[in-house]
Amino acid sequence: MDSYVLNHIAKALVGPSVGILAADESTGTIGKRFQAIGVQSTEENRRNYREMLVATEGISQYISGVILYDETIKQSSSEGLRLVDVIISKGLIPGIKVDTGAKPLAGTKDELVTEGLDGLRQRLAEYRELGARFTKWRAVITIGNDIPSSYCIHVNAHALGRFAALTQEAGMVPIVEPEVLMDGTHSIDVCHDVTRTTLKQVFYELNSQGVDLTGMLLKPNMILPGKAGSIKAEPSEIAERTIDCFQDSIPESVPGIVFLSGGQSDDEATANLDAINRKAQEIGVSWELSFSYGRGLQSAPLEIWKGDNVNRSRAQQAFYNRAYLTSAARQGKYDKVMETNLLEI
Ligand code: 13P
Repeated sequence: MDSYVLNHIAKALVGPSVGILAADESTGTIGKRFQAIGVQSTEENRRNYREMLVATEGISQYISGVILYDETIKQSSSEGLRLVDVIISKGLIPGIKVDTGAKPLAGTKDELVTEGLDGLRQRLAEYRELGARFTKWRAVITIGNDIPSSYCIHVNAHALGRFAALTQEAGMVPIVEPEVLMDGTHSIDVCHDVTRTTLKQVFYELNSQGVDLTGMLLKPNMILPGKAGSIKAEPSEIAERTIDCFQDSIPESVPGIVFLSGGQSDDEATANLDAINRKAQEIGVSWELSFSYGRGLQSAPLEIWKGDNVNRSRAQQAFYNRAYLTSAARQGKYDKVMETNLLEI
């Protein structure tokens, strides 16, 4: 694939005011989210929920692309249109999660390795045929007593490299996601060090495996203190530590960084993204700094939807509002007062 085309897709995904909706929860994960709101995880409910999100009027002002799950990319809307075509008709780029999940890593107690390389070349060809133009693979790095091990970082980084090379061969843009989890009581310093080590290893593998860095996006965590710890950090500190870590580990040729929300509340994920963009504008950085949020964009609409299409337009309004706020944060133009001064679709 022409490197120019991959770079063009990557840049479109991180355009000046837009970012990505991650709606690629596996059936197990969406089941947990539905359980929390008392909704049965049937194929129809999963379809209705995701159709509700992508059909939101005007959403392409704030969202560039949507990451889908295997089931969703093959589903049809309630009106019989392919969901992928609904997405394309809204001016959004369809993407697909292609890993098959994080599994226990042999020889370790609490560490994980992401699977899904077997048969990946064939699946990628099928997904491209179905309309996907970008892909995602999530590796999970856990911080705890004596972990992460260099073994865990190494095998996950190697798999990310193989996934990215295969994706580019198939003519799509890989979103390379090494997520250092925020679970635990660790300090922001530990998150900084583990993330830096992980990112360096990931770029070592991407380079060794011939991945074109101009035709990919990186999806990292922000640098945060552990969620269960007692010391919290202000957005300004998170921004400073995040950019400091990235300047030391992410090559300038990568066109964009799209953060995961990782279990932050939606307003935290917005405020932190805003602070990161403000800091980046102050010091000048080469990469676009945008978002690829799952929970950060979906918590409010999911809570309102509650499995009932009667709530559909209110849920779409909530999704639209959070996307608007996140888009403002992606430009470093968010202000807390905007949370109460919202737009009507
Ligand atoms: P969260 O924003 O909920 O962390 O999800 C993003 C994602 O796609 C994780 O793989």
